[in-house]
Amino acid sequence: MKHARDLVRPLLPASVKRTVKRMLPARFYRHVDPSWHRKAVGGLWAELGQLQLDFLVEQGLRRDHFFLDVGCGSLRGGVHFIRYLDTGHYYGFDRSRERLEAGRSVELPRYGLVDKRPVLEVIDDFGVARFDRSFDFALAQSVFTHIPLDAIELCLRNVGDALVSGGRFYATFNERTDSGPDRVDRSDLPYHKDPIVRYDVAAFEELCRAKPLSVSYVGDWGHPRGQRMLAFTKA
Ligand SMILES: C[S@@+](CC[C@H](N)C(=O)[O-])C[C@H]1O[C@@H](n2cnc3c(N)ncnc32)[C@H](O)[C@@H]1O
Repeated sequence: MKHARDLVRPLLPASVKRTVKRMLPARFYRHVDPSWHRKAVGGLWAELGQLQLDFLVEQGLRRDHFFLDVGCGSLRGGVHFIRYLDTGHYYGFDRSRERLEAGRSVELPRYGLVDKRPVLEVIDDFGVARFDRSFDFALAQSVFTHIPLDAIELCLRNVGDALVSGGRFYATFNERTDSGPDRVDRSDLPYHKDPIVRYDVAAFEELCRAKPLSVSYVGDWGHPRGQRMLAFTKA
């Protein structure tokens, strides 16, 4: 039997559909579009998911390491890390309950990974101490590209505290060049409304001052939209 949404959709003009999507509260997205969460994290689902695992394995991530996925969204990278890591070694959090739930209820079963027992939490203040463990590696993919510097500072402090000595936290960012705005508003988009922000490397060096973290510029890591990579290492 056809879903009501599939019967109604062809009857609506595109402008009405756009307006409905823009104004809809997030908890209803899945009724309008079952793949909304893949769009909400920026699309490029397969390519950008695999790239995250390949990169971290190249940096030394082992199956027996404990890994923290900061702003894991709907597990675009998460499904690859969960498959690779030993059972129970993947920890992911996101501030969006809807995105995280889509990862848990749609993507985990789809990839046959429920038995790998990932630990998934809704956290919006980077309060990773509640996981009550330390991590060998952490990654924030496409997170610092959307949040203000004071949130990044909090993230570095809390994730830094949760790393083992010598542990590494990788994070992507949009590098500020001489031209172009530092912040692009996207509040009128459906699904992904977070602004796009750009920073220069010096801003991260400043944030690491007086923290037990050093930052190094990795740069181009093959991101299809040109996001650059930083590596924060715990002393
Ligand atoms: C572009 S998505 C990327 C998701 C995932 N890392 C990936 O590569 O698919 C950015 C994610 O960061 C999350 N995020 C932004 N600020 C956050 C915060 N303060 N705490 C937790 N998650 C946050 C958003 O909810 C969103 O799911």
